[in-house]
Amino acid sequence: MDTSSENMESQRQTLKLVTPLTLGRYHISEEYGFLLQNPLKELPEQYRSWMEIASELPHLIESRQLRAHVYKMPLLDCRFLKSHREQRLAHLVLAAITMGFVWQEGETQPPKVLPRTLAIPFVEVSRKLGLPPILVHSDLVLTNWTKRNPEGPWEISNLETIVSFPGGESLQAFVLVTVLVEKAAAPGIKALVRGVEALLQHNQDTLLQALQQLRLSIQDMTKALAQMHDYVDPDIFYTVIRIFLSGWKDNPAMSEGLVYEGVATEPLRYSGGSAAQSSVLQAFDEFLGIQHCKGSDFLHRMRDYMPPSHKAFLDDLHSAPSLRDYVLTSAPSLRDYVLTSGAGCCLMAYNQCVEALAQLRSYHINVVARYIISAASRARSKMPSHPSPHALEDRGTGGTAVLSFLKSVREKTVEAILHPNA
Ligand code: HEM
Repeated sequence: MDTSSENMESQRQTLKLVTPLTLGRYHISEEYGFLLQNPLKELPEQYRSWMEIASELPHLIESRQLRAHVYKMPLLDCRFLKSHREQRLAHLVLAAITMGFVWQEGETQPPKVLPRTLAIPFVEVSRKLGLPPILVHSDLVLTNWTKRNPEGPWEISNLETIVSFPGGESLQAFVLVTVLVEKAAAPGIKALVRGVEALLQHNQDTLLQALQQLRLSIQDMTKALAQMHDYVDPDIFYTVIRIFLSGWKDNPAMSEGLVYEGVATEPLRYSGGSAAQSSVLQAFDEFLGIQHCKGSDFLHRMRDYMPPSHKAFLDDLHSAPSLRDYVLTSAPSLRDYVLTSGAGCCLMAYNQCVEALAQLRSYHINVVARYIISAASRARSKMPSHPSPHALEDRGTGGTAVLSFLKSVREKTVEAILHPNA
């Protein structure tokens, strides 16, 4: 390669690595992170019949009238959903109606067919957005929040959901605490992009600041997650809320999947909604170079349940320069690290990020133990006829598989810590 083509190649590399990591290109905001900025609360007038059902959803499900309403829904054309925010609200609304329709009678006897007046527009708007036709984290959390007082603080008391399910205040808080966790992650996402830039420019001071900012953000996420205990009742979560998040893939209650009438004759299978579909922790893992072998198939598969631009962000982060390599190669031997040197500070700051992430994952495991494992055993002892939690998808339904999966993810996080005297 001559010098000019070498230059061109290096320019191409730089462009490839720098250009894509501008947050705006991925529909990520510096202030809100992956949350949709100012989600809409209303759809255009022609979609009134959807909004009327969605606004009454908890009541229609609890009084077991939802299915009757869905059977009477007119078939509406999605062409008039012009903006991205309209399409996101339509996806949330149709997804919520779908979950209510499927699980209205609880875990037993779900329907085999989703009526065409719901299935056709749902699949159409899903195609427009590149999302699967089921309720995803991007619906329930990223698109499902509004501030009561726009100038007021980011606190549960100043937030409300746009679409709700049965479960009362616990349901509201389950969604809104997760919104607050996403919001707390926003400075971390911003720091991560700064960190990638600093790596490209070999700017150690900026890298150090970015890592410190990232650690603070992860710690704030843990504090936000802790509010789950203040506002969400574990028994309501387990016996009411969880059911409406269940999907129809690897789910013995719907082993055949669900026929989307008017779309395909064969049943389709999709996983249920989970914050494992959040892009935040996967972004941090990519940046910090944490690789999950055991459960990685599941985590990777969850990327297909994220908005495509967020998934693209994760893919591009994967091909960005390696922070771990940089930290490791900044000094010839880890034994020689002087922790007060620039490189030593970066190593320490890197480790602190990884430790904070492991602590967040440990905290999350405790949440899962309380909201799923203990709550499942209470439900069984109160109602021996209550279907075994294994009746639904094993992950997240009380099986021990979920704990060992989450522990292996945490273990891989801990293994990423670099030991200076190695
Ligand atoms: C009551 C609250 C919560 C419960 C019961 C819960 C439950 C679970 C379960 C069962 C899984 C395993 C995968 C699955 O079944 O989908 C999981 C994974 C996960 N959850 Fe949660 N979760 C809760 C809150 C949150 C919140 C607020 C976040 C933050 C955004 C979060 C982030 C994650 C992530 C990122 C994973 C993937 C595993 C990992 O990367 O460590 N969860 N959760």
